[in-house]
Amino acid sequence: MNSFTFHNPTTLHFGQGQLAKLSTEVPKYGKHILLVYGGGSIKSNGIYDNVMQLLQGLDATVIELSGVEPNPRLTTVHRGVALCRQHSIDLILAVGGGSVIDCAKAIAVGAKYEGDFWDIATRKAAATGAIPLATVLTIAATGSEMNSGSVITNWETQDKLGWGSPHAFPKFSILDPAHTTSLPENQTVYGMVDIISHVIEQYFHHDANSPVQDRFCESLLRTVIETAPLLLADLNNLEHRATILYSGTMALNGILSMGVRGDWATHNLEHAVSAVHDIPHGGGLAILFPNWMLHTLDANVGRFKQMAERVFHIDSAGKTDRQVAEEGIAALRAFFTSIGAPSRLADYNIDDTTIELMADKAMIYGDFGNFRKLTRADVVEIYRMSL
Ligand code: NZQ
Ligand code: ZN
Repeated sequence: MNSFTFHNPTTLHFGQGQLAKLSTEVPKYGKHILLVYGGGSIKSNGIYDNVMQLLQGLDATVIELSGVEPNPRLTTVHRGVALCRQHSIDLILAVGGGSVIDCAKAIAVGAKYEGDFWDIATRKAAATGAIPLATVLTIAATGSEMNSGSVITNWETQDKLGWGSPHAFPKFSILDPAHTTSLPENQTVYGMVDIISHVIEQYFHHDANSPVQDRFCESLLRTVIETAPLLLADLNNLEHRATILYSGTMALNGILSMGVRGDWATHNLEHAVSAVHDIPHGGGLAILFPNWMLHTLDANVGRFKQMAERVFHIDSAGKTDRQVAEEGIAALRAFFTSIGAPSRLADYNIDDTTIELMADKAMIYGDFGNFRKLTRADVVEIYRMSL
């Protein structure tokens, strides 16, 4: 296990009715609020009205930035930065999913940076500060509500880049499972695939002494795998919504990677696919992850065998380690398929004509991956396996 220092400053308010905490939290930061939200789901499910009512009760001045895209775009970040400067914003309140929150993080940091925010996304400059940011989460998926990462797409250059900064942690996040019941089935599925993927990215390392980290990961994986069919059969079930919501936050708030070094190669592969084709993040991960696993299996067969046995309860009697490992990967694929996730790039009408372009995007910072370093040839091969 590696040495580590852990710090996560986000205050979490979890559970039904926690939206009321806005009344005590918001005044800590000021009266000029930038409300950031997406394409309108918060208007149709009533969350917008409830948030506005609470903010009006605080006599706050609310400036709105609506229409944040799934796979949020740099142009929207620029609009938000301009609004912050124009209205001396004290607090940015993101109400929505990972896209809205990621966009709000970029705005918060971009407003305190003299140059173009894209310098920070492309790692040419580091964030120097941020306007305080808070979130009301409406989808269980990214973990962005309690981490310092964000992913922004520059549609002009077709680059979708992850970036992070300690300045980008939300000050507080409100997670009410009732806010997620309006999520349609497909977004619910994508969210659960994303959660599973985050756990797996952190599970695949070569450290031989990580029993606590391993069992944290395995317990989250088992929980999502067991809860997924129950939730999909009953999308309004608040207990199942709460289980998945909590899983999503725990999967990517830093706890699973204490003392170990995860991989994140599959996320990089997926971001390159969405940069070119604008597909849902979770859909892309469901397609790519089993193929990354098959491609990297020989880097550490034992690790895959452990996942197969402990997460998918594969019986290893009379089988080689490799057979058990392969059955585990097949079980992951079967699970994704069973909940209705896509399994081939062709499901999004992506064929081999853009493989080279996607590989260019994935290789922006050179070879990548910690569990197994991927070269351009590896990247092309994994995309080919995924067609
Ligand atoms: O835009 P609206 O109208 O709000 O609709 C959204 C959107 O169409 C809808 N939705 C959200 N909550 C809803 C709802 N519809 C009905 N009822 C609700 N309660 O769902 C759609 C997808 O929303 P989005 O925010 O895009 O989903 P998600 O949370 O999965 O975020 C995906 C983005 O996050 C990035 C992804 O790459 C992608 O850009 N990621 C961010 C990470 C991070 N910051 O840590 C890590 C992740 O690995 C990921 O890369
Ligand atoms: Zn993800």
